[in-house]
Amino acid sequence: MKINIEITEYSSHEELSSKDQELIAIAISQLKTSHSPYSNFSVGASVRLENDKTWGGSNQENSSYPVGICAERVVLSVASTQSKGQSIDTMVVVYSDPKGNHSLPLAPCGMCRQAIREQTFRQKKTMKIILTTKHGKTLVVNNADDLLPLSFTLER
Ligand code: THU
Repeated sequence: MKINIEITEYSSHEELSSKDQELIAIAISQLKTSHSPYSNFSVGASVRLENDKTWGGSNQENSSYPVGICAERVVLSVASTQSKGQSIDTMVVVYSDPKGNHSLPLAPCGMCRQAIREQTFRQKKTMKIILTTKHGKTLVVNNADDLLPLSFTLER
């Protein structure tokens, strides 16, 4: 078996469409809503739905560490509760590192990849994911499911 994943790299946000740049700005603005007193690592996420509605979210930590939730799963929950039935076309993820290291885009954690997989299963449509930095370096995956090959499913 051979699994191929296509990831497109950009060095500046200006290389993306104006809609994607707008969605990146929303994810960046969400960084200030992060509750991350334990890691000081803020993550912002945003989504654009098929009806063009946008939503944002951020990581929400807890003194009982495993209770904390990542930005991606926050925004997925917001979208599916506040815009029930609307599929997600695009998700953006951005972060702010307390050490000031912003050279590479964030790679979503495994739990978030599984949550994204569930969303694409629910909506029966692919989702584009834009992993970016505040300074412009960006990775785009047209099918976010590609980030979790051989994902768990109850379908046999
Ligand atoms: N985090 C996210 O929000 N998304 C990810 O994909 C990985 C990590 C958060 C969790 C925690 O609040 C902080 O980043 C540091 O791990």
